[in-house]
Amino acid sequence: MSTIDEVKSKIDIVDLVSEAGVKLRHAGRNYTGFCPFHDNKHTPAFVVWPESGTWRCFGQCNEGGDIFKFVMKREGLDFKDALQKLADRAGVKVESFAAEKPEVKEAHEHLRILLEDVVIYYRSLLFKNNEILTYLREKRGLTDATIETFGLGYAPLGYDNLLKHFLPKGYSEKDLIDAGMLSVRDAEDERNSQHVTRSFDRFRNRIMIPIRDEQGKMAGFGARIVDPTDIPKFLNSPETPIFTKGKILYGLDRARKPIRAADQAVIVEGYLDVIALHQAGYENVVSPMGTALTEDQLRLLKKLSRRIVLALDPDTAGQKAVLRGLDAARSAMDREGELGFDARGLLRNEARLQADLRVASMPDGLDPDELVARDKEEWKRLIENAKPIVTHVMDSLAVGQNLNDAKVKNQIAAQVIPLIEDLPNALERDTYRQALARMLRVDERSLMSTQVQGPVMRRKPRTVIQKMQPDRSIMAVNPNFRIESYCLGVLLRKPDLLYRLDKSFQEFGLSPLAAEDFEYTDHQLLFGVVRLAVEQDENDHHQYVTSHLPETISDLSKELLAQTEKLEVVDDKVLEDLLARFIDLRRANAMVNNIQLRFLQDEDQQLGGANIKVYQEQNLRLAKLLHNLDQAKRKMSLKRQA
Ligand code: UTP
Ligand code: MN
Repeated sequence: MSTIDEVKSKIDIVDLVSEAGVKLRHAGRNYTGFCPFHDNKHTPAFVVWPESGTWRCFGQCNEGGDIFKFVMKREGLDFKDALQKLADRAGVKVESFAAEKPEVKEAHEHLRILLEDVVIYYRSLLFKNNEILTYLREKRGLTDATIETFGLGYAPLGYDNLLKHFLPKGYSEKDLIDAGMLSVRDAEDERNSQHVTRSFDRFRNRIMIPIRDEQGKMAGFGARIVDPTDIPKFLNSPETPIFTKGKILYGLDRARKPIRAADQAVIVEGYLDVIALHQAGYENVVSPMGTALTEDQLRLLKKLSRRIVLALDPDTAGQKAVLRGLDAARSAMDREGELGFDARGLLRNEARLQADLRVASMPDGLDPDELVARDKEEWKRLIENAKPIVTHVMDSLAVGQNLNDAKVKNQIAAQVIPLIEDLPNALERDTYRQALARMLRVDERSLMSTQVQGPVMRRKPRTVIQKMQPDRSIMAVNPNFRIESYCLGVLLRKPDLLYRLDKSFQEFGLSPLAAEDFEYTDHQLLFGVVRLAVEQDENDHHQYVTSHLPETISDLSKELLAQTEKLEVVDDKVLEDLLARFIDLRRANAMVNNIQLRFLQDEDQQLGGANIKVYQEQNLRLAKLLHNLDQAKRKMSLKRQA
């Protein structure tokens, strides 16, 4: 392959054009956008064909070409400079300018040949070790053909096996160190207190897994323990001139063709999972090597297929490990944001790489290798049902949560909305917003208002959004939150007011104030204590409250009390104000209920309307409540005027 072809094969024209600031839209087999070379912002006359790696402006320019032509035109470079620039980007050496020194190339080749010999050596030791062979065959269900294909081996106990075996074959100690096969330790010579270095076998008593680059050239080893008490469980080759963990995907040499054929790549988290899946006939599978996934690795895959599925371990730690990782700088900034923001990094990469990233969660606490051992077909279904990132995040956040709790709704919305806002496609954004509204049983419009309130929630300065604490940002703009805080502050200071409030509520035909009148869980807890205080008569009410507060909310109560510090005498005006606010709160809740009811009803109707009676009753009850609340408000204002 010529240098030019190599550069072309490594650079995606869609990436290149997108990064130059041209917004591209997928349209069938190609992409369209506004031409960056002439200014017409009305007709998207610029077309990119990813398959041939070419572009053309059908507008004023009526011109086209490949990646080189694009960069030449865009940056005013001549061909030589454009080639150099793109070659740098692709990591390709341009022969005539900076040829790789033949000595260096030869040295790398020498290390690879050594590693091939090491594979043979470890392999022969494996086939002499019945215990480990039995483990691989019976416990791991691997056939001998698979063991051969993946070149598995065994590194024996002892510290000098490699030197003993390879020095006589003409390799040097330095060769073995450079290839990452020997570790080196500083030591002190006992006789003369001089510092010396000693080298010894890096891998001892381990199952050896050869790691090859995408072209199948040896790069290093992954090594699994045999003795369960040894640590670490997996030990990899160190970084060497031919082994860079972040740039290699385990199994890619064998998965390349299957990925192209299936137009889909699957990423799992373990060497043995890759091997087991290949054996089961799923050959489009690769894995990173104990480190988080890198953008380089995604790019490697994307050259073969844009459709990438992450098959994640069930434990959330595993999910987070993969979800983090991408784009180190950004995720460092987003770190405190947990899953939501890690997924955000993933989504940005998806958009930038124009890839289709999906997530499949392993069921029942199983590893992929255990899953295919149980049922081969299950793997297929699992991958077919992989979810887009936003859906995955929504579902994982909802697991085990009480979706009727308004606070939970708020927290989930706060984590998911920024993800939705990040999506480049408006239709997609709408779809996910609807899905979120359905899941949380809230009105979609209330989600919209959540994100547009206040200047900080605007789309543009992303850094502002990223740094914000997700749930508080939403609570701060939620008027109910402030009203609830104020009302509770007053009640905490003067619990006896609850009697008078109850009396008024009764007069209006309304049920007494209850914890459910509050939207936020900690407010509900606090109110519960106030309610208990006025229902007992052994202690002073205020004292009862302070001595019965759960520890988790004592800070909150202090905060609320501080807000009402100046409230010494309670006059009728304060009481009236409080009453009005509580009525408003109840009304707001009733409206939310109303909307939820509508969703439930819609759902029910789609399923045949089995619960129609139940919903009619509830509608009636709600209507009556709203009527009473409005009546109450009217009576209050009449009273004030009198
Ligand atoms: P797991 O502990 O899930 O191992 O680590 P596994 O691949 O399922 O192995 P078995 O089934 O218990 O034999 C998943 C991957 O994480 C990396 C390895 O790449 C491993 O395959 N890893 C794990 C390390 O790099 N170091 C470790 O100490 C543990
Ligand atoms: Mn496993």
